[in-house]
Amino acid sequence: MPDQGSCTVIVGCQWGDEGKGKIVDVLAERVDIVARYQGGANAGHTVHVGEDEFVLHQIPSGILHEGRRCLLGNGVVLDVQQFFEEYDAILERGIDIEGRVGVSYRAQLLMPYHRFLDKAVELAADTKIGTTGRGIGPAYEDKAGRRGVRTADLLNPERLAKRIEAAKSRVVARLDELGAGTQELDRAMDETLALSERLLAIATDVGPEISTALRSGRHVLLEGAQGTALDLDHGTYPFVTSSNTTAGSAATGSGIGPTQITDVIGIVKAYTTRVGEGPLPSEMSPEMDEHVRTLGGEFGATTGRPRRCGWFDSVLTRFASQVNGLTGIAVTKLDVLDTLDEVKIATAYRMPDGKTREFFPADTWALADVEPVYETMPGWKSSTCDIRRIEDLPSNARAYLDRIEELTNAPVKFVSVGTKRSQIIPVD
Ligand code: IMP
Repeated sequence: MPDQGSCTVIVGCQWGDEGKGKIVDVLAERVDIVARYQGGANAGHTVHVGEDEFVLHQIPSGILHEGRRCLLGNGVVLDVQQFFEEYDAILERGIDIEGRVGVSYRAQLLMPYHRFLDKAVELAADTKIGTTGRGIGPAYEDKAGRRGVRTADLLNPERLAKRIEAAKSRVVARLDELGAGTQELDRAMDETLALSERLLAIATDVGPEISTALRSGRHVLLEGAQGTALDLDHGTYPFVTSSNTTAGSAATGSGIGPTQITDVIGIVKAYTTRVGEGPLPSEMSPEMDEHVRTLGGEFGATTGRPRRCGWFDSVLTRFASQVNGLTGIAVTKLDVLDTLDEVKIATAYRMPDGKTREFFPADTWALADVEPVYETMPGWKSSTCDIRRIEDLPSNARAYLDRIEELTNAPVKFVSVGTKRSQIIPVD
């Protein structure tokens, strides 16, 4: 019998931007395959290697490690144009990626008309979601409406043309209703379809590839995008993305069975951020929000939008621990809090009816009116950036991490104190 393989899911536990890319990059050192299971080019995973910065939108963060196989599962909505731009940019930076990237035959293709529609709908909407404008909602709508086009459809150009025509004409009619222009759409469609052969050349059966690898004792990471509070079912609906970001969808979105997953590591930032519309219960005061945004460089990797900053919200992370079945957490960006006099943790919410609850509520509108109950802890007031062992952290920082662990119901497995690979501290 070969050694037992392992399959670890990496999942965001807040509103995305927790630093998943950085943790995946470090863990990729120990695995053979890294696969994305949902989302698309709305993600922006930033990874630093030496002095170089890479922002990955669709290609899994394992790509920066030589020899790792990087797959995009059936659960993703693939923006083909953007994908090959990213692919070529990585190649140009001298990283040998040929033969290492595979896209599922079952992956949905995100077409230029999805991007057009996303922007037009958002512009016209009364309740804005603050989407990234990457076409994500419309692409998943076509998937659920059984109008989508998949990688496998490229195998039959005639059928492909018919399916595209049906889906596209529907969108064009809607764009007309919204008074939105469609200039450049045909050109963008031609550019996308011109990439068909290139895409087919790397198409693969992702689920069977991962399952076979696991059976022969290999190690796999399933890389989530966005975060638990942006999950279509479990997040702050409707201010969410259009896919299931949580660990349950790692199996569905990569094509393996749930029993093949061995661990689920939740990524939590040492505070909370949110970009786009929707409630952020533990939002900081305007001055502190501005201060932490500057300290943490909290601007969207995909859109450049400023992120709103909040204190660590354990009501949310405890919920994330439950919904994802976390076996451990990685706490990122601890160093951003190094200079603060005190740090706060939200432990419960006082609801509009005056009752206190410790469970993340389903009613998003009530969430906008909750008042967090905070525990305040003293800051550590010293730099953690050069610390490489957990026992060397200042005692106040360790106490903060211990409290996060206790309130989240999951052991801390990693702590990051900077953007470099060496600044991720493993916890035994
Ligand atoms: P969409 O995924 O572009 O449809 O955007 C829906 C919501 O998810 C918006 O609030 C976006 O700001 C948010 N969102 C989508 N992707 C990310 C991400 O990678 N990080 C943080 N927020 C995201």
